[in-house]
Amino acid sequence: MKKIHFWKEHIEEKLQGFLGELKGPKSLIEAIKYYPLQKGKRIRPLFTVAVADSLGGDIEDAITVGSAIELIHNYSLVHDDLPCMDNDDIRRGLPTCHIKFGEAHALLAGDAILTYTFEILSNKKNFKTLTEGEILEIIKVVAKKSGANGMVGGQVLDIESYTDIYEISIKKTGALFEACFICGGIVSKKQGILKDLEKIGKNVGLLFQMVDDYLDKDGFYSLKGEALRDDIKRLRNELIEETEKIFGKRNEILFLINLIYKRING
Ligand code: IPE
Ligand code: IPE
Ligand code: MG
Ligand code: MG
Repeated sequence: MKKIHFWKEHIEEKLQGFLGELKGPKSLIEAIKYYPLQKGKRIRPLFTVAVADSLGGDIEDAITVGSAIELIHNYSLVHDDLPCMDNDDIRRGLPTCHIKFGEAHALLAGDAILTYTFEILSNKKNFKTLTEGEILEIIKVVAKKSGANGMVGGQVLDIESYTDIYEISIKKTGALFEACFICGGIVSKKQGILKDLEKIGKNVGLLFQMVDDYLDKDGFYSLKGEALRDDIKRLRNELIEETEKIFGKRNEILFLINLIYKRING
């Protein structure tokens, strides 16, 4: 827990640092910073760091990659809230980006957050221990998991009211968690277990979305009602077992999985 608190502070500093360096029209920069500098849970970068920590990777490099993925997550929320998508007025207890800055600025802020993420990841000076090959591999994973057959694809299936809620959730939410786990493995130079990490990441994303839907009473909850609690419990138990197999019984990944799980019990 102490470690997680420490990592979270460093993730906040990293995000502030990256966003502080960004130049552009004042109104755009304000809209860009608005979501990423709010109080998010930072669960995605925390998983990236926890994976790297368990596998002996460099924590600082993991914080950089995790923070980049956190930026992509925040861009996805800016666009997800737009009138043409979920049309939400409130996020994290505050007015959504388009309510505060207008639709065009929100759309463009999302675009700029996405491109800035890749500017950060492609700058070798941002990394201490990674080779150019490893950085390229991370860029490829993050791009692929965020794109048409990953997060963006999942968002499309969601707005088209596609019926397979597992596929929607694995793509719209699971894909970024997969990226966090795979990248934690790349930072740790553990090429041999990237497929196993991807699988755990996918199931963590699914667990996360099921819990979120249980709390919001939509998505999986609309389909399963209170029986969703049993599915969540089963998935959590399977995940703990899989995670212990790879990482052993004492690590922060287990703690973070339980943190997600405990949200359904208030
Ligand atoms: C919200 O994600 C969107 C979903 C994928 C359900 P989070 O609940 O991780 O959002 P923040 O960043 O902590 O606010
Ligand atoms: C958000 O999903 C997922 C992405 C932005 C990729 P939701 O639309 O279900 O999440 P909330 O309820 O707005 O946080
Ligand atoms: Mg949505
Ligand atoms: Mg939404």
